[in-house]
Amino acid sequence: MRPFTARPDVAARLKTNIKAVEFIQDQVLTMVEPALAVRLSPDMLRKRVEELIAVVAAQHQLLINQEEQRALAELIVDDMVGLGPIEPLLNDETVSDVMINGPSMVYVERKGKLQLTPVHFRNDAHVMHVAQRIASSVGRRIDESSPMLDARLPDGSRVNAIIPPLSLKGPCISIRKFSRNVMNFWRFTELGTVSREMARALEIAARCRLNVIVSGGTGSGKTTFLNALSLMIDHGERIVTIEDAAELQMQQPHVIQLETRPANIEGKGEVTQRDLVRNALRMRPDRIILGEVRGVEAFDMMQAMNTGHNGSMSTIHSNSARDALARIENMILMANVNVPLQSIRMQIASALDLIIHTERMRDGVRRVTEVVEVAGIEHETILLGSLFTYRYVGQNPDGSLNGYFKCEGGRPRFLPRVEYYGFGDEFLEALTPTKPPERK
Ligand SMILES: Nc1ncnc2c1ncn2[C@@H]1O[C@H](COP(=O)(O)OP(=O)(O)OP(=O)(O)O)[C@@H](O)[C@H]1O
Ligand SMILES: [Mg+2]
Repeated sequence: MRPFTARPDVAARLKTNIKAVEFIQDQVLTMVEPALAVRLSPDMLRKRVEELIAVVAAQHQLLINQEEQRALAELIVDDMVGLGPIEPLLNDETVSDVMINGPSMVYVERKGKLQLTPVHFRNDAHVMHVAQRIASSVGRRIDESSPMLDARLPDGSRVNAIIPPLSLKGPCISIRKFSRNVMNFWRFTELGTVSREMARALEIAARCRLNVIVSGGTGSGKTTFLNALSLMIDHGERIVTIEDAAELQMQQPHVIQLETRPANIEGKGEVTQRDLVRNALRMRPDRIILGEVRGVEAFDMMQAMNTGHNGSMSTIHSNSARDALARIENMILMANVNVPLQSIRMQIASALDLIIHTERMRDGVRRVTEVVEVAGIEHETILLGSLFTYRYVGQNPDGSLNGYFKCEGGRPRFLPRVEYYGFGDEFLEALTPTKPPERK
């Protein structure tokens, strides 16, 4: 991996002589054949580009020292084979998201906070060029007639690009970087995402094949949490995963990963999440893991959970655990207009065991703010029983939030299942009610 250090400020210094730099960049780009650029190793290509930079600089009497020559060669090579100026951000382990809003507006997320970077593109066309390169690498295209793109980079990172006329200012690219390290519950306790008791209870929940939904806002850590839950699944189980863009990192040997397919240019050949959930049911799965439930497939997923596929899991975009239920209900209504609401609610109440709500809070920390059990249904209301909640107390001088995870105690409806798997005592111990910390 290439070092990130020095490059942003070398790039910033190159900016002072921007005309010369752009001139050299354009000249060198036309001098190297694209086919050759693909064939050469990055090191050989960089060497070749450095030579060409020296030639162009000498020919046109442009002042550029050796360090700048090397930095410029990096930029040009990234332009030819990588994703241009954002390559160093993609290689930077501390960056989790890269958001290009325009040529001079590149944001990253580090430690849960957004930061503007000094990275810049030459112009809109340069951003567009990168979007097109991503599109063609997955056999798609992005242009005025098809101005939105979802794709995955070879390293698994998730990319969305949207261009004019839909994006009013210019092309925008958003990248959720793929994290090679699966976070586990131990790491979550270290990061302040959950308390130790919550970690223990949720590990047991995943092992005892409870049906779980992880809810939360965009980027709140839902998929990461689902990955951590999946670490608890027994290696003897047959798991089918369904996603739009594969992000789940199952560690078990017996996993079948399914991915949806968008329609082709003629609008044909689409395979939806619903198609895949239905297909998965014919594959004798022990568990079905749906990356994110976002539409009519909610109906099939609830049916799967109700018909012997205990331990199925998914994520959902929502503002709270209660809101997650309302959204699932709406999704099912979209699929089945003729089914009475009451029977939909009964179906949801008997399918789901746990809802885990995640939030990226204003101090940048991602926390599980609610763990609730789906306790049944009374009249027309699905009953939720709170197991854990995050209680905000105040703010520390450094801006971090001061709060604690409170356990409400209780004996959840699914306790017999936990006991059946032999974890009853341990689970109840993790559910010991928390006393609020004493105020000083
Ligand atoms: N508990 C955590 N602590 C710190 N960082 C986390 C935590 N969970 C997730 N992250 C980081 O936050 C980013 C977003 O995580 P993730 O993809 O899981 O969110 P998401 O809710 O699934 O997002 P989306 O709504 O876009 O699907 C990732 O870079 C991930 O590494
Ligand atoms: Mg996600």
